[in-house]
Amino acid sequence: MSLAIAIMAAGKGTRLKSKRPKVLHEIGGKSLLEHVIAAAAQIVLPKDIYVIVGHEAERVKASVAANEVQFVLQTEQRGTGHAIQCAREQIKGYDSLIVLSGDAPLIRPETIARMRDFHIEQQAAMTVLTACPQEPQGYGRILRRSANSPEITAIIEQKALTPDQLKIPEINSGIYAFATAPLLASLDSLQPNNSQGELYLTDMAGQLVAAGQRVVAIQSTNSTEVLGANTIAEMMQLDAAMRADATRKLMASGVTIFRPETVTIDAGVTVGADTIIEPFVQLLGQSKIGTDCRIRSYSVIENSTVADGVLVRQGCIIGDSIIDTGAMIGPYAHIRPGSEIGEGAHVGNFVETKKVKLGKGSKANHLTYLGDADIGPGTNIGAGTITCNYDGVDKHKTIIGNGVFVGSDSTLVAPISIGDGAFIGAGSCITEDVPADALALGRGRQVIKADWAKTKGPHCKVRT
Ligand code: UD1
Ligand code: CA
Repeated sequence: MSLAIAIMAAGKGTRLKSKRPKVLHEIGGKSLLEHVIAAAAQIVLPKDIYVIVGHEAERVKASVAANEVQFVLQTEQRGTGHAIQCAREQIKGYDSLIVLSGDAPLIRPETIARMRDFHIEQQAAMTVLTACPQEPQGYGRILRRSANSPEITAIIEQKALTPDQLKIPEINSGIYAFATAPLLASLDSLQPNNSQGELYLTDMAGQLVAAGQRVVAIQSTNSTEVLGANTIAEMMQLDAAMRADATRKLMASGVTIFRPETVTIDAGVTVGADTIIEPFVQLLGQSKIGTDCRIRSYSVIENSTVADGVLVRQGCIIGDSIIDTGAMIGPYAHIRPGSEIGEGAHVGNFVETKKVKLGKGSKANHLTYLGDADIGPGTNIGAGTITCNYDGVDKHKTIIGNGVFVGSDSTLVAPISIGDGAFIGAGSCITEDVPADALALGRGRQVIKADWAKTKGPHCKVRT
């Protein structure tokens, strides 16, 4: 049996009152559409996924192009039924079609698979995924043929419900399976007989039943996963649900998360067992955190790899970087893209790194900027050290060897190289390469004038 998936993503999302197309709004660190495509890709190959785009089509396409899915253009958005009409040519070669909604991002692949299997087993022309959420307001409702029957007779949109039908708790998720032949046979008969003047895909239920076809419904076991987002508030509820799910899963796998409701963890993040995450931490993008780490409050880690046993103290920002085993970072360290902090290395407060390799066991503990530098193991970078990597036009590299001691408040003017075991006196401005094991001093010599302060200094009168 050949199967395609269509994802309806052409709408503007008028109710969001946003310039950004609805399906490009993000929850859990990814756009709504990315989530739906990820679920679909667990069921069929990308070449069999058809994303129906319309409003800001080019922008929507570009945002998910990396998934190598197919696109169908719905130039004018005349309703969900019209969206599927636009995909007629693409879907006609398949036996079955699953329809997903670009604005229902929590749907799980296992639920899509369950609906597909039920659809096949029931030999239905149309199968509707339904649920009974606490708040059915706003959703289309399901009219069952009888209480215990899988068969339904129609889907009624919220605006068309009679007072009696308002009591129906079972909603339409906007997710369906169709046998393609009966779908295509009556798809063009949809009429815009509704308050919006649109072609509703939901009308296919009643229409197929009228044509003598079997239309059934299957209820999701989890009423949250079918929820759609029509407003920003609804979207943030889905975001909270997704994040709560992520922290729950991590806790079930041995991660301790204090006050999990305050922690923001993206869907692509992994965390090893016995790691402790404190309140208000954000773990974003494709970050990987090892085991036995402690990530203290207010730290934000994005697209970075943190090995085992790392301590990230309060208030650190770490992006696109690698932190090796047993390193200690922060508090208030800024680890910028391309940094590799070695095993057991220490990066302390108010230290900024960018494109830096800091060797095993090396330390940069206080008030320092290290940019475009390659620093060997066992080196100590004194407080206030600056690598002057930028000459106003180009960036240059600083190379510091093994076991080097850089005295406090030194400026290292790149390009420059400091040999293994060298010693830089505090307060030096170093502009020439320093050979291994040498002492380098680059500062004014200290002068002492005896009794000057007592006899000539501006404050000598005050001290009488
Ligand atoms: C739809 C269903 C409703 C269901 C709800 C579930 C219809 C008529 N109603 O309502 O029964 O309970 O979803 O969330 O289908 N879209 C297009 N082209 C269009 C119109 C919409 O691609 O011309 C896309 C939208 O971008 C969106 C999806 O289809 O991703 C659903 O459209 P939306 O307008 O949000 O439908 P609802 O009013 O939520
Ligand atoms: Ca919707």
